[in-house]
Amino acid sequence: MRVVSGIQPTGNLHLGNYLGAIRNWVRMQDEVSASGGQCLYFLADLHAISMPHVPADLAASTREMVAALVACGIDPARSILFNQAQVPAHTELQWLLNGTARMGWLNRMTQWKDKAGKNREGASIALFTYPVLQAADVLLYQATHVPVGDDQKQHLELARDIAQKFNTDFGAGSEVFTLPDPIVPPEAARIMSLRDGTAKMSKSDPSDMSRINLTDDADTIMQKVRKARTDPEPLPSDAAGLAGRAEATNLVGVYAALAGTSVAQVLAEHGGQGFGAFKPALGELLVESLAPIAARFCELREDREALDAILAQGSARARHLAAPTLDAAYAALGLVRGGAT
Ligand code: TYM
Repeated sequence: MRVVSGIQPTGNLHLGNYLGAIRNWVRMQDEVSASGGQCLYFLADLHAISMPHVPADLAASTREMVAALVACGIDPARSILFNQAQVPAHTELQWLLNGTARMGWLNRMTQWKDKAGKNREGASIALFTYPVLQAADVLLYQATHVPVGDDQKQHLELARDIAQKFNTDFGAGSEVFTLPDPIVPPEAARIMSLRDGTAKMSKSDPSDMSRINLTDDADTIMQKVRKARTDPEPLPSDAAGLAGRAEATNLVGVYAALAGTSVAQVLAEHGGQGFGAFKPALGELLVESLAPIAARFCELREDREALDAILAQGSARARHLAAPTLDAAYAALGLVRGGAT
């Protein structure tokens, strides 16, 4: 098994990232390293420049995100933790894949449509070709499994399409790239905003009340949960009763994911309760789950040298693992490189 996944180092790690992806990263690290496989987790700093950004903030957020991931349980001794900017093979492979990716495929990407909005002419080319870099990120390491939240499934399907077409067009009977499978958690694959149950929880939402950050203190968490939008009905006693109740569905899903149980189980215990009783229970569960992570994060973020060393070592290991696939892709395309082909 080769597990590969990434996160953009823009802003804080929030509950959606944690439940949708990072918790699964840690789980897979524990399973995969015990069975002789390899996990690679990276900061998608090259993806972050597809939107307007402040360079000094990106550098600071990159280091903070390393601290956050380690605080969540990513162990740099067992997993390869690095940033794309230190592994040029990502951008090289992206260019090689640009010949295979189709305009029509990229035009269908919902994230492109959402982020470009009505101003497509003014969007960066990086925003448009972003999913090709994402394909390169995983194909470069022959990833077999990619743990992501629900919103990244479409990008992973594109990576599979690109890999398949490249193998067919240029593989000469052999598989240059492995087709990766997305691993999406059964509960909490899409955590929604606390202010709007139809919008996903996101770093780019201007309202901080819309999300729980992993660094929020106990009072802030309790306040955000208390103020979370809900409807006036009590909780139903089974999952069918959540139909059409986006905010209730979200809060119950978060509870289930944090408690390590199912939505049905949460409703068996809390069905009939109003939000006046359920919200404090959810708030306490959040505080209890996140406090140890926040404490560790605060310790780690101070040691800039240690964080840079983690990235330097992880990047050296990633460069080494990437080399054979990159060479194979150049060769498959008939590109001559000083005797390497
Ligand atoms: P990013 O940085 O937006 O999010 C990182 C991970 O968190 C998940 N996630 C969520 N899950 C559930 N509910 C939410 N509200 C929520 N918000 C975010 C995302 O699904 C993701 O798994 N393009 C990617 C980064 C990337 C990548 C890759 C991922 C670049 N290359 C290669 C996997 C493989 C992104 O912007 O994720």
